[in-house]
Amino acid sequence: MFKRILMAHDSSLCGWNAFDVALDLARKYGAELIVLHAIDTSSVPDIPHKDVLIKPLEERAKKLEEEVKKRLEESGIRGKFVVVRDRPVDAIVRSAEEYGADLIVLGARGLGIVSGYLLGSVSTKVVLTSKKSVLVVKGDAPAASRL
Ligand SMILES: Nc1ncnc2c1ncn2[C@@H]1O[C@H](COP(=O)(O)OP(=O)(O)OP(=O)(O)O)[C@@H](O)[C@H]1O
Ligand SMILES: [Mg+2]
Repeated sequence: MFKRILMAHDSSLCGWNAFDVALDLARKYGAELIVLHAIDTSSVPDIPHKDVLIKPLEERAKKLEEEVKKRLEESGIRGKFVVVRDRPVDAIVRSAEEYGADLIVLGARGLGIVSGYLLGSVSTKVVLTSKKSVLVVKGDAPAASRL
């Protein structure tokens, strides 16, 4: 059924829940798993020395890459980790097309701190704009749990 799954990971708890689901699906279907992390440089204000603000984003991506690669190796799942420097929604929707993914997996919420919503802006917009099937994994979400 699924041959190539694109999982979008922002390093949040919800992202890890979605990663676990994606890993399980990849195992069950013998699918390849592409884990994508978007570094959103557009969210960084255009100020002098903006590298200071970008550095923590790059460091978070590096740490996530190490953890994801370790989990992929341990599980024996065929897969890879990719970083895309773009707005998360654009990166996810475009990459799903480019990689020919037949399923997108993401968390319902992420690192956002706004409470009162079960879905974040990225999960909402990916469902609304991607032609691909999308699995939105609900579960432990620090923001959502403050409802
Ligand atoms: N930068 C990113 N790279 C990859 N995947 C992402 C990224 N940001 C969000 N996602 C995916 O989208 C899911 C939902 O996150 P989303 O950003 O929509 O919620 P939020 O952070 O709580 O809300 P918001 O960002 O709108 O304040 C995450 O669990 C993750 O799967
Ligand atoms: Mg977010």
